[in-house]
Amino acid sequence: MDTAINTIPTVKYNQNYSSLKDLFLDYRATQRCLPAFNVNDNYDLKAVVEAANELDTNVMVMTYPPVAELNTPEVFKSLVDGFKKIHKNNIYLHLDHSTTVDLCKRAIDSGYDSVMIDGSQVSLQENIKMTKEVVDYASSAGVVVEAEIGKIMGRGVEVKCDDDFLASANDVKQLYEATGVDIVAVGIGTAHGFTPTEPKIHFNRLREIAEAVPAPLVLHGGTGIPDGDIQKSITMGMSKINIGTIVHTTYMKYAFEEIQKAGDGAYPPFIMKEVLPKIKAVVKDRLRAVNFK
Ligand code: 13P
Repeated sequence: MDTAINTIPTVKYNQNYSSLKDLFLDYRATQRCLPAFNVNDNYDLKAVVEAANELDTNVMVMTYPPVAELNTPEVFKSLVDGFKKIHKNNIYLHLDHSTTVDLCKRAIDSGYDSVMIDGSQVSLQENIKMTKEVVDYASSAGVVVEAEIGKIMGRGVEVKCDDDFLASANDVKQLYEATGVDIVAVGIGTAHGFTPTEPKIHFNRLREIAEAVPAPLVLHGGTGIPDGDIQKSITMGMSKINIGTIVHTTYMKYAFEEIQKAGDGAYPPFIMKEVLPKIKAVVKDRLRAVNFK
């Protein structure tokens, strides 16, 4: 009898960890990646959480600053807590791309599991200073802090991947060592949103960065990256992937269609009942691409 098959470890995506920091360290060591989705309200939050629960995987949900500010971090945290009561999988809440220390502090005080301080638009020294301030504030609460090095460009713009936009391994090492930040988003050629041409991921740069620091790394701009590139980058040290645009464009497209069909009688829960399965389908598709082993 061939016993080899019995010895192949089953890769798990639903493990419990004593802390999110431990999850990330283990994910980096075992070449796994936490799927993280940008959400905007209770409806797309519900779609992401249900999709992850049905596929039995840990998941992260992220609020961009306008979402956190409009809903308030306190309310969003309560929403996530409500979903945690009715679902068995681990759901982690993250503040994405905050350019201010104050919003990070407010999210930490509200009970977020993780915050990103995005100093990618300022000098390395200034980036280090603001990242350190957030790391110090987050430490007693055990909240994970993400920093960014390099520039991950915005929606609809040409994908720029010259050296000005890529993260340098030296800069990542310097920021990591000076701040003790938990996870680092690194510019390696991806861009946020749909891009006119396929993003070209600079795997050599990713290798240099992964060799320079033990920190779990974060891949931004998850919409539109081919599955093979996502999976290769996970095996090279990407331990969190951010996926946003495909969620909100699916949400808006189908909501618009349903509202047009319903006309003056459009009623939010009836509209959303039709839209939620569409969002869940794209989220499941992305979850399968990330949890591929
Ligand atoms: P996409 O919008 O390309 O999926 O990227 C999301 C992201 O990186 C959020 O930080």
